[in-house]
Amino acid sequence: MLRYLLLRNPGHNRVYYLESEQLALAELKLTCQRFAQSCEHIESLDLAGINYLSFTVENPLSNTELTWLSRLSFIFALFQQASDAHDSALLPVALTTPAYIDPKISMLLKYSGKTNEIFTRMMINVGLLSSDFQYDDSIQLLDPVAGKGTTLFEGATSGFAVTGVELERKLVHDATLFFKKFMEREKYKHTLSKRSMYSSPEGAEAFIQDFQYARDKQGFKSEDTRGHLSMIAGNAIHARRYFKAEKFHLIIGDLPYGIAHGNIGQKKHNSRTRSPAELLEVCLPDFHGVLKTGGSLVLAWNKFVWPREAFTELLTAKGFSVLDTNPYDQFTHRVDQSIKRDIMVARKG
Ligand SMILES: C[S@@+](CC[C@H](N)C(=O)[O-])C[C@H]1O[C@@H](n2cnc3c(N)ncnc32)[C@H](O)[C@@H]1O
Repeated sequence: MLRYLLLRNPGHNRVYYLESEQLALAELKLTCQRFAQSCEHIESLDLAGINYLSFTVENPLSNTELTWLSRLSFIFALFQQASDAHDSALLPVALTTPAYIDPKISMLLKYSGKTNEIFTRMMINVGLLSSDFQYDDSIQLLDPVAGKGTTLFEGATSGFAVTGVELERKLVHDATLFFKKFMEREKYKHTLSKRSMYSSPEGAEAFIQDFQYARDKQGFKSEDTRGHLSMIAGNAIHARRYFKAEKFHLIIGDLPYGIAHGNIGQKKHNSRTRSPAELLEVCLPDFHGVLKTGGSLVLAWNKFVWPREAFTELLTAKGFSVLDTNPYDQFTHRVDQSIKRDIMVARKG
């Protein structure tokens, strides 16, 4: 029997680090389910005053298993224990790093209302782990409430084709300008096209900014190595107008908290509400339509304003299968006094 120990990245956000041990354990449990061998004793433990997450396996990790582990949102360092005695020496194990976009991208842009990037990466991982798909399935990811793009940048670092929809044009402008500057500074070969996607006599409009990029000219030549990042200044309630049916493997988003942003409507500050229920009541049929069968939806929200049971009921009524057993019920954590965040994970099919 071999024991592996994982150190968690303290990140920039001490509150999240302290709150996230249970979330990290839940993400690890889902990851271990993808291993070809069974993982036992998945637990949190302290060694010489330092907290680790650990698990045991029969055989050394395969490259595929190591790749799954390396994608964990919280992982900072991995060790293998020389024997199964708790006090035996720790041998460092190198993690594999995806070579698409430097993960620092989602740390650079700071603004109020930003979703913590480690938490965002966790939502993406949990989504993929709960779907029928693998990292190398040319994943298409949608964030229908994209803000300034943390989910898109995190998805891009994993090599996914990412698309965001955001109601506030200023946020779309800031996110795309930031991405363009990042591409220029890091000397990526890239193109940006902008066009109107949709307009109606009632004044509903949507504009898309579409980046294609690659590390160099050679990579840009082939569709296999070219990245895609698009942002639509539009409204999530119109997702079906913007995208063809079953386009996305994953839909991931941090729902509006109703504090700094509006939830719904054609115009900026229309129909503010503290609960995302109203927005989802309208959007979920479109989200269901654009999600692939076997794909999954992960949405974060504030439990103080909408109970989990009501959210589950709505998702079920709109045709999703909610994943609610352990470890899916382990993601609740405190963000601040007014926000107790949780995630809902649901599948299509
Ligand atoms: C919690 S924020 C997302 C923050 C984002 N994850 C980030 O890190 O930048 C929720 C976003 O949803 C947007 N939003 C609210 N209602 C929307 C709608 N109907 N369609 C698209 N976006 C909407 C808000 O403007 C806000 O930017």
